[in-house]
Amino acid sequence: MKEIIAIANQKGGVGKTTTAINLAASLAVAEKRVLLIDADPQSNATTGLGFHRNDYEYNIYHVLIGSKKLSQIILKTSIPTLHLAPSNIGLVGIEKEFYDQESDGRELVLKEKIKEVKDQYDYIIIDSPPALGSITINALSAANSVIIPIQCEFFALEGLAQLLNTIKLIKKTINPKLKIKGFLPTMYSTQNNLSKQVFADLKQHFKNKLFKDKDNSSYVVVPRNIKLAESPSFGKPIILYDIKSVGSQAYQNLATSIMAG
Ligand SMILES: Nc1ncnc2c1ncn2[C@@H]1O[C@H](COP(=O)(O)OP(=O)(O)O)[C@@H](O)[C@H]1O
Ligand SMILES: [Mg+2]
Repeated sequence: MKEIIAIANQKGGVGKTTTAINLAASLAVAEKRVLLIDADPQSNATTGLGFHRNDYEYNIYHVLIGSKKLSQIILKTSIPTLHLAPSNIGLVGIEKEFYDQESDGRELVLKEKIKEVKDQYDYIIIDSPPALGSITINALSAANSVIIPIQCEFFALEGLAQLLNTIKLIKKTINPKLKIKGFLPTMYSTQNNLSKQVFADLKQHFKNKLFKDKDNSSYVVVPRNIKLAESPSFGKPIILYDIKSVGSQAYQNLATSIMAG
């Protein structure tokens, strides 16, 4: 096991799921053994990989409440080294279940469950919901590092301070090893001055937390790319849908940067 990476940002629609699916798939195509955990009740990572409600009986909810083991819900995907722990809308119930639990340690449930399968993977990628609730806290507590997708649009950095504070708090209390792996600019559009501004702001504040491409000459930036938006409707990661697209290239570069350490 090399790393457990959470993809987090409490804002919706910033590219978390797109990043989770395509980073996981790009690592898997590079022959890494990857488990993608869909920890969002909206289940977009599950449907984006081509699974529908009737394709699986149990999901991550059953694991978190303790009625199934993680190994019992894992699905194989069309990339042999990519496995998926699916989600389902029923996962919304977990917030209440956790809330009702008196005991300490409810932040660490996912981490505990992952232990069973950890040794079978090189990377575990956790897609999280658009909220700083128990599920995201569990994801950040289970992870070694976090990738924060930043949509290159208006209000991009709004809410970031709150997320960074949450990460700091988790580091201080339950998960001292948690690192910010990096900020990933997403939906970057060359025609949009705002995109350039957001990217400039990111460079100014978090220069050494941006991913670099393999020859270290430029930053990894995910462009706005229609192929990335289309591929989930075909149930495929971009690398199987259009490997040459700029969107696919960006996620392959991200994977290369992560494999380089
Ligand atoms: N780089 C991109 N180019 C074009 N569309 C994108 C890109 N990244 C994400 N999208 C689309 O934007 C929407 C939100 O992205 P998603 O990854 O689901 O965000 P989140 O998981 O943060 O809510 C989706 O419809 C997705 O297909
Ligand atoms: Mg999502």
